[in-house]
Amino acid sequence: MQTNWWQKEVFYQIYPASFKDANNDGVGDLQGIIQMLPKLKQLGITTIWLSPIYQSPMVDNGYDISDYQAIDPRFGSMADFDQLMAVSKQLGLKVILDLVINHTSDQHAWFQSAIKSSKSPYRDFYIIRRGRDGNPPNNWRSNFGKGSSWTLLPGSQDEYYHHVFSKQQPDLNWENPELRQRLYQMINWWLAKGVAGFRIDAITFIKKDQDFAAITPDGVDGLGKVKRKAENRPGIEKFLTELNDATFKPANAVTVGEASGVGYEQLGQFIGKKGYFSMIFDFHYADIDIASGSEWYRRINWTPTDLRHAIFKSQMAIQKVGWGANFFENHDQPRSINKYIQAPAYRNAIGAKALALLYFNLRGCPFIYQGQELGVTNVHRESISAFNDLSSHDNYDRAIEEGYSKEAALEFVNARSRDNARLPYPWDNSINHGFNSGAKPWIALDQQHTNVNWQSEQLDSNSAWHFYQAMIKLRQSSNLSHDLIEGDFQPLTSSCEQVIAYQRGHHVQVYVNLSEKQLNLTLPNGKLRLNNYEHYQKNTLKPYQAILFEVNSNE
Ligand code: GLC
Repeated sequence: MQTNWWQKEVFYQIYPASFKDANNDGVGDLQGIIQMLPKLKQLGITTIWLSPIYQSPMVDNGYDISDYQAIDPRFGSMADFDQLMAVSKQLGLKVILDLVINHTSDQHAWFQSAIKSSKSPYRDFYIIRRGRDGNPPNNWRSNFGKGSSWTLLPGSQDEYYHHVFSKQQPDLNWENPELRQRLYQMINWWLAKGVAGFRIDAITFIKKDQDFAAITPDGVDGLGKVKRKAENRPGIEKFLTELNDATFKPANAVTVGEASGVGYEQLGQFIGKKGYFSMIFDFHYADIDIASGSEWYRRINWTPTDLRHAIFKSQMAIQKVGWGANFFENHDQPRSINKYIQAPAYRNAIGAKALALLYFNLRGCPFIYQGQELGVTNVHRESISAFNDLSSHDNYDRAIEEGYSKEAALEFVNARSRDNARLPYPWDNSINHGFNSGAKPWIALDQQHTNVNWQSEQLDSNSAWHFYQAMIKLRQSSNLSHDLIEGDFQPLTSSCEQVIAYQRGHHVQVYVNLSEKQLNLTLPNGKLRLNNYEHYQKNTLKPYQAILFEVNSNE
């Protein structure tokens, strides 16, 4: 496989509202990010991905955009953005933005014009259909878990607009060529400003089955999941090819598709040599604990063997055709320690480092989500009213509708809520954990784990942060870089079912014990390059012990 510039990158996702609040108004901002860039540089990452910073009413925290070419004043100004680009460049960091083009906010000028008059040229930028006998056009259920994906068009008696997500996020009508051109112009405008590429939001939803037919219900509400008619549907290839040709390809931009619903047999189309994207996120093991990404109440009891199979299957399928985007966390997922470390006693630095070693050294680009490198964990909430995220409320109501008790519903939401990842970044022990200088943060701080923060981890050479730093260095600039970046992925078998082990290239072997049992097994005779415990006893893995060995290719 030919090497592309972006294969060397280590990505770091920033959730701007919760990273650093420089002007002390309770919401993180671009000046806060600028202040902290040297700290990210010190960690070793090479590209930052900014979750949406565009003008937005923030119903879905910026994933509802009301102006694609303006910065939301809560985050700063375009001058701040330009400064962020300049400072990043000085530090040798690249920046990618979050591209949300399946939908806009209902406050976007296009939608506002569309609802004002049926003659508006922007009317056809959205998906508007007549209802049936006083009901929505069909029985599709919104992707956030509750209610119809249609809402009555303001001012109309019988016309509805479609939204895969919340009703404040009307879907754009990709069938309209003029709309598509307008989006491409906007994308090229950002590329001209120097962004290195994009993470592309919900991109497999842009094509809807044009029959808009009803589907067999899959819940007591009589509705069926909208993804069955609107996720990765036939015909999407035309839009994605055109999008790539008009924007990303000529700019040699890096693109990471949030492309749910793509089967492994289809990967070539998406990330092959002529694929639509540089890489896509694979959600198969991110959702190992639930039956479906959009239904949190359908929980699954999984074992380390299930996770091993899922990771291996994903790596082998991606390796056949292209390049992967490896992640354990993002702004939509609970913290990985709570999800993947099943023994609560190890939801600490040991667990954080074991997971780090496991996913970071897979073949592909590693993605780190803010706080993951500190070992931040979920925060338990006692009442549904303590949640901010709109899909947490939808999932709570839906679980109750499906017959679960309030207590059970609350546990599902605690396990899965997107709020878990969205709390202010803990910088130090000062007021508001150093997020700002005292203003009430937009979302409550984590008061349950006050000892996990950036400052204290600087002082502790065994911290998760230092482990991430060492791991990044090993990948980016060591005698093992070639194996860790370009080397093939090869599953290794071990005699213990709790162990996930693999080889990269000719010289790297990774062993992770994903259980609280001490295990005896045959381990390589190589040099220990990374170990999440201070000691290593030959052919033994302590609970959640994870080791990266440098081996001789002939062993
Ligand atoms: C993506 C985003 C998520 C958002 C949704 C709608 O899944 O990651 O945060 O709510 O799209 O834009």
